[in-house]
Amino acid sequence: MTRRPLIAANWKMHKTNQEAKDFMKELLPLISDLKDVDVLVCPPFTLISSVDQGREGSKVLLGAQNMYFEEKGAFTGEVAPAMLKDLNCEFVILGHSERRWIFGENDELINKKVISAFEHDLIPVLCVGEKLEERENGQTEQVILKQLENDLKGVTEDHLKNMVIAYEPVWAIGTGKNASEKDAKEACDLIREFIHSRFGSETSDKVRILYGGSVKPENVSMYMAQEGIDGALVGGASLKADSFAKLTKF
Ligand code: PGA
Repeated sequence: MTRRPLIAANWKMHKTNQEAKDFMKELLPLISDLKDVDVLVCPPFTLISSVDQGREGSKVLLGAQNMYFEEKGAFTGEVAPAMLKDLNCEFVILGHSERRWIFGENDELINKKVISAFEHDLIPVLCVGEKLEERENGQTEQVILKQLENDLKGVTEDHLKNMVIAYEPVWAIGTGKNASEKDAKEACDLIREFIHSRFGSETSDKVRILYGGSVKPENVSMYMAQEGIDGALVGGASLKADSFAKLTKF
């Protein structure tokens, strides 16, 4: 089973509309010769339209970094799945560690968001991963399995096939301390085994599993060379078009 590699940019809380437009203008010619790779850009909500306009004529995919699970209503400050669809988003990052640990999102909430994303035809990029102390205490596997178990409750096989899961060890995010290829592969294999045990091989063969955490042009090929790592979710190194373009040419 060959899965199409996916290189995803998570811009987090960065850039103005002008900067987003400039980024896209610079990016497209740099990746025009790209063939068997999916490229996804996930800007903050305020820049989604600019990136959408900027990607015209290209195959760049568009995603948001979060959403709420409800349809509509009195949820001040939140954004609904249909609003993301309205802006032409195809993907949505859910359960990012910054959502979990800065904004207090728990697995129950993340699970509701995952289900809601599928109901609205958005593909979730579900992030899971352990904190440093959990790794040091030998709890990495346990933490990842618990997150998967809880975040994927009620998800169907058909939905899961299209889903993207990102292994992002919290200690590697934005720290410059990227995981070794061995640790990243072990965690990605664990995730695929979990999917296999719950949903069978047809599903586990199709789901794309990414590594994220201080991925840079200098280390991306080390991860992409690992069987079972299907791509990367990139923060810091995705903010400059030339650096992000290099990442897509692992
Ligand atoms: P980083 O962020 O590449 O800056 O470490 C990755 C992420 O948070 O998705």
